Parts: sequence; C-alpha cells; structure tokens
Amino acid sequence: MPTAIVTGATGILGREIVQALGKDSKWTKIHALSRSQKDKYPPTVQHNHLDLTGDAQVIAKELKSQGVEGEYLFFAAYLAKDDEKEASDVNGAMLKNFIEALAINGTEKKLKRVILTTGAKQYGVHLGPVKCPMEESDPWIEGEGRPPNFYYTQQRILYEAAKKGGWDWVVTYPNDVIGVAKGNFMNLSTALALYATICKELGGDLEFPGSEKFYTRFDCFTYSRLHAAFNLWAALEPKCTNQAFNVVNGDTESWTNMWPKLARRFGCKVPPKQFQGKARDASEMVLQAVPPFEDLASENGMQGEVAQGKVRQRINLTKWSQRKEVKDAWEQIAKREGVQEDALEKATWGFLGFVLGREYDIVISMSKARKFGWTGYIDTWESMEATFDELEQEKIVPKTK
Ligand SMILES: NC(=O)c1ccc[n+]([C@@H]2O[C@H](COP(=O)([O-])OP(=O)(O)OC[C@H]3O[C@@H](n4cnc5c(N)ncnc54)[C@H](OP(=O)(O)O)[C@@H]3O)[C@@H](O)[C@H]2O)c1
Repeated sequence: MPTAIVTGATGILGREIVQALGKDSKWTKIHALSRSQKDKYPPTVQHNHLDLTGDAQVIAKELKSQGVEGEYLFFAAYLAKDDEKEASDVNGAMLKNFIEALAINGTEKKLKRVILTTGAKQYGVHLGPVKCPMEESDPWIEGEGRPPNFYYTQQRILYEAAKKGGWDWVVTYPNDVIGVAKGNFMNLSTALALYATICKELGGDLEFPGSEKFYTRFDCFTYSRLHAAFNLWAALEPKCTNQAFNVVNGDTESWTNMWPKLARRFGCKVPPKQFQGKARDASEMVLQAVPPFEDLASENGMQGEVAQGKVRQRINLTKWSQRKEVKDAWEQIAKREGVQEDALEKATWGFLGFVLGREYDIVISMSKARKFGWTGYIDTWESMEATFDELEQEKIVPKTK
C-alpha cells in the first residue's frame, strides 16, 4: 500500500494531486505540504506546514517532528519570480533543500520515486516560436544568449539526487493549466470567467482580447485533474522509471473554436467583425531575438526562416482590469451575486494576456506517454466548463445558469 508526500499542496496542480490520492483507497497515507492550508481533506491526508525556502537542517527537523515520510514524492511546489535567474535559484533550492532534508532525517531511505511537475517552458514556449509538435526528445533551449530555465535546474538536481539516493524519477511537462486554485500565479480559467462575466454586465459583446493572429492558431492545454491522474499512474508504472513526459489533454484547440462556446456559456455574443474596429488599449511585446525554433532549424532546413516571436493583445488585459467601468461592474456583480470581491484584483491578467496574445502555435505531442501505456484524455472545452462550474461552486464567479 503506497504512501505519499505532496509539496505545493495548495497549488493549481498540487491540489489536484492531493485530492486524487485522497480519493484512491490504494494510497494509505498522504502528507500534503505547503505554507498555507486552503482545503479540507479526507482522513488519509494530513496537512503539514512547510516553508521550502528554509534551511535543509531546519526542514529535516520539522518534517521528522511531524512524522512526514512517504515512498512517493510528488513535487509541485513553485515560487514565481519575474527574473529567470532568480526563479532558477529559488525553485532549484526549494527542490534541493527538500530532498536534502529527507536525507538528513533518514526518511529518504523509504523513497522509491519522485514525480516532479515542470511545464512546457521546457521547450522555450515563453521565448518565442517553437518547433511543433514538441517532443520530449527535443534539445534543451540553453547556452549562449538563452536565459536560465528553472526546469533545467530542477531536473539536473533531480538526476543527481536520484543517483545518490537510490530512487528513481518521473518529470511532467503540462501546459496552460485549466483548473481551480486560490491565489495562484498562473490561472487562466479564473481570469477568463471574470472577463466574460464582466463583458456580459457591460452589454454582452465578448471581444477576443488577444492577438487576431493567434485566434486561428493552435494550443494544447492541461486539465489539472488529468495531470493528477497522470501523476498517480506514472508513480506506480514501472516502465516510467527515469522518464519525462508531456502531459496535455490529448486534443489540439484554437480560440476560433472555443471563443463562441465561451460566449454562449456566459450569455455573450462575439462581435461578427471583432477584428475590424480599432483596438483600445492594444499592446505589443517582442520576445527573444532568436526564437527557440532556430535551435532545431539547421537540422530541419529552416535556418533563418522563423521570425522573432511577439505577444500582441488587442485589449491589454492588465489595463482592461484597471478601467473604471470594469472595476465598477465587478463591484456591482460581487455585491449582487455574493461572489469574491477581490477576484478581479487577484486574477492573473498578465498570464492570460500572454496565453491569448502569443502569435505562434503550441502543439504538444502525447505519443510518448501513449507508447508507455497512458490512455487518459479529456476534451479541453469540457475541462474548461468543469472548471467554470467549480469556480461557481466556490463562489469566485456568479452562476451562469
Ligand atoms: N499554472 C500553469 O498554468 C502551469 C502551466 C505549466 C506548468 N506549470 C508549472 O507547474 C508547477 C507548479 O505550478 P502551479 O501553477 O501549480 O503553482 P501554484 O498554483 O502557484 O502553486 C504553488 C504551490 O507551491 C507552494 N509554495 C510556494 N512557495 C512555497 C514555499 N516557500 N514553501 C512551501 N511551499 C510553497 C504554494 O503553497 P503556499 O503558498 O501555501 O506555500 C502552492 O501550493 C510549476 O513548475 C509551474 O511552472 C504551471
């Protein structure tokens, strides 16, 4: 009967791993770790306070005194930093400290496998156009002129520690996560639901705020619950030893397909000529001068063919969220419907702006996971609807039906 430790227990991805373990009777004891506690848990789950930025010796003592141990470690903790070097230092240190702490207090001996959550920044999706579909065997985007990538730092730490500690590892690469979390740094669903709710209040026109170019391009998303199911499967699947996997829903989506569905759900209308009028509060950001695509271009005969990436928003969402009429509309909705008043201010507008404004395809291959036996799949729009339902139940946004 396996036992588990989950770090990042309150995060958009970690929260669902804890819930999935708690619902599965095979898992007899689960330690859910984070600085805060935001959910109620089933009896097999014990929440323990932990600050991963502390010293390994201190963490070791704290864990020991709370009886924290487990055979499987699901590491989904994450501390957002704007500076890439800082993100790499901080997130690398959090993983290193934790594993060192287990070694110091002797509980590493019980460890069988560590499942580390990272993401599609593995392929440089934040730096500009990438080769599609992305495959796990693609080269890492690093070296001269490339910024540090905290996923590479964490994976190197993981490989080293596994060799020393005598356990094995699995790494996941999710992308644009759809799910619910309170106080998360990258949550596109909450921001989308708020945008649509406020557009409805302001007259019902649901204009696509991102780039018109990206409206017809492709993206692959990860439902947080599917990612959790993948984690549980990969932890116990012997074939997955020392392997990294893309973890996306299994379909490829476009906003051309999903935007009218979003409008219908929230009682709005997509303006028939939404890209023809003048954009208000438009913004443009250029990405790395040499796109990640270029690192594979000599091999595929496309050297110098792919231009530098841009993120263009027809309506800059951060500015939009600060407009007086938007704030007033949300205040009115929140009072009338009894939903969370600070949701507008807390939503991750910059992240949604990036997801909708990127002007290049994000297509991620699930072939490797399938070859290893993974059969999980969910329709992206259905996962989005399930998430909106949950946001309504949590009283973050008002009921649409
Ligand atoms: N969200 C996305 O769309 C997305 C997409 C692709 C990949 N990813 C990747 O997935 C991983 C997890 O990210 P996420 O989005 O799930 O993060 P998240 O929702 O922001 O959650 C972060 C978790 O880490 C915990 N944490 C933060 N600082 C901590 C500290 N000092 N000590 C202990 N725990 C700490 C937080 O809990 P407390 O604050 O309570 O401590 C929380 O449980 C990251 O590598 C991220 O880059 C995310």
